[in-house]
Amino acid sequence: MLTLTDIAGNPERLSRRLETRDGPVVVLRPLVHADTERLAGFLGALSPGTRRFSTFDGYGLATAGELCAAIARYDKLRLVLEDVPAGRIVGLLEFGLDMTPADTARYRDAGIRLTGATDCRFGITLADDHQDRGVGTLVLPFVAEVARLLGRTRIILWGGVRADNLRAVRYYEKNGFRRVGPFTEADGSSSLDMTLDLSPPPEPAGPPARHHRPVSHDPAGDARP
Ligand SMILES: CC(C)(COP(=O)(O)OP(=O)(O)OC[C@H]1O[C@@H](n2cnc3c(N)ncnc32)[C@H](O)[C@@H]1OP(=O)(O)O)[C@@H](O)C(=O)NCCC(=O)NCCS
Repeated sequence: MLTLTDIAGNPERLSRRLETRDGPVVVLRPLVHADTERLAGFLGALSPGTRRFSTFDGYGLATAGELCAAIARYDKLRLVLEDVPAGRIVGLLEFGLDMTPADTARYRDAGIRLTGATDCRFGITLADDHQDRGVGTLVLPFVAEVARLLGRTRIILWGGVRADNLRAVRYYEKNGFRRVGPFTEADGSSSLDMTLDLSPPPEPAGPPARHHRPVSHDPAGDARP
């Protein structure tokens, strides 16, 4: 199982080049300390509409600096999406490995027991000019892979999704997320909790069944020295 320290020490381990459906290549990789200014550029360029759906503590250099300073120090893993060759940050993907009391209580009311051992929180924000182009869907299989590498079997939405964020609700549903239920935000607006169960990764294809020989049961199994 990968730890946040492992990832910070070897960010290339979680880097992927992906070709968007329009053609341009993007790179998804862990946030690194050298990203502060580019991350500030990304946050600062988010439109008011996007900021309503993805809320950060701030949208400038101070917040970008805090996010970079938090690398491998708390329970968060942040990946950025970078366009190629310009190197502009065009997306921020966040994983939270600890459950918050508020999330735990809401899910408990819905009959779901969250655990910091196998659940993780996930949030995604794309630059305005990269939304609605299939990029979010393109990165989702890698998101699931990262969660599995972190030992997680279920993803919950970080803070839920606003009920009037129809594109995001459609995006999550078409990528396999299921609705858990609505809840009311502090400002009285409505949001939805959603989860994605991560099925085990597919088994590598083995030889045809007719070549399998019966194997006698070995009670020592893999524990045998
Ligand atoms: C939400 C987000 C991550 C989705 O990524 P994306 O790359 O834009 O999503 P995709 O293009 O893969 O899919 C979007 C889907 O929503 C549909 N859609 C777009 N606008 C819609 C609307 N107003 N109502 C309903 N569906 C809508 C698209 O047609 C597409 O569905 P389709 O493939 O069946 O046609 C991205 O748009 C984003 O970052 N938005 C701003 C921040 C945000 O809302 N983050 C999520 C917070 S919970």
